[in-house]
Amino acid sequence: MRYNVTIQETLARTFQVDADSVSDAESVARSMYRGCEVVLSADDFVDADFRVERNAIFYRSPNNDFILSHGDTFQLLKEFSFQFDMIFADPPYFLSNGGISLQSGKVVCVDKGEWDRGKTPEEMREFNMEWLRLCRDKLKDNGTIWISGTYHNIFSVANCLTELGYKILNVVTWQKANPPVNISCRFFTYSTEFIIWARKCEKVPHKFNYGLMKRLNGNKQMTDVWRLPAIGRWEKSCGKHPTQKPLSVLTRIILASTDAGDWILDPFSGSSTTGIAANLCGRRFAGIEQSEEFCEMSRARREELELLERRTFLKRHIADLKVLESGEQLDLFTGGKEIAL
Ligand SMILES: C[S@@+](CC[C@H](N)C(=O)[O-])C[C@H]1O[C@@H](n2cnc3c(N)ncnc32)[C@H](O)[C@@H]1O
Repeated sequence: MRYNVTIQETLARTFQVDADSVSDAESVARSMYRGCEVVLSADDFVDADFRVERNAIFYRSPNNDFILSHGDTFQLLKEFSFQFDMIFADPPYFLSNGGISLQSGKVVCVDKGEWDRGKTPEEMREFNMEWLRLCRDKLKDNGTIWISGTYHNIFSVANCLTELGYKILNVVTWQKANPPVNISCRFFTYSTEFIIWARKCEKVPHKFNYGLMKRLNGNKQMTDVWRLPAIGRWEKSCGKHPTQKPLSVLTRIILASTDAGDWILDPFSGSSTTGIAANLCGRRFAGIEQSEEFCEMSRARREELELLERRTFLKRHIADLKVLESGEQLDLFTGGKEIAL
């Protein structure tokens, strides 16, 4: 049996920053170390916490900004004690019940996989309560969580969030600019998904990069309806995941609610769109995925990012990053905050 040993060290250094809240002070402190090569000696540390885990790490990027674990999220979430700045989750929607759709002129079954097989409302509630409870422990007190869904699961998720003490901040409607056609012609075409944004604590303020969102929206307040395209072929260079999310959706979420260097968790990682978007925005990522095939796909996607050409290509295809790359670099790295160094 092989084990992973993680050593988490506590720095002895203290310094003072001017800020209005604990979370602001923390982000100022983080930004002071960003991009610096800090040379440390053993005397700089006061404490060290050693944690031993089963060998669940599937892949780690060369600069440690992308860590993927292979296994069951319900088990693995219990096995570490780290707290994240933000969580994005695209859990099973439980809608694989033999439905059909039209793709490139052909009738195809839309079942996603065994993991998405329909559940009774009680089973769905039990599932959602459990992973949302585990995730709450993995969030910093000022952290936020985003969960995507359709009408099949989103109401169950919303009820569980409230019951567990999260505070719902927004329900974003992602309107797909190019939805698939409805072949039954008996009701409206499905063209939306919902993304609930909630914070961990009722009273602790959360991060929101308001100014950046406004600028990305042509200097008007960004609304909770996001018209963004469905997944593009250019995003599927490493194989097909049946429910892969577009990078443009994840990039918007990450830019809105995190700062550079922040840690983001995805407990249902799939092909790790969250991780790819996180790294493109200078954030760090930890993902959990039960399927080895999807872990391989994630690894291939992250390895592509080692190629500067591919990174540039992706940034040029993601609307928000294109805007930022064309002259608003500062905001991408500081979340629009003035930082006194
Ligand atoms: C909706 S997909 C996520 C797709 C992802 N957002 C992407 O862009 O590729 C949900 C994923 O959760 C995984 N999954 C389902 N139950 C799981 C569990 N208990 N532990 C870990 N992964 C799980 C599935 O294998 C599937 O890949």
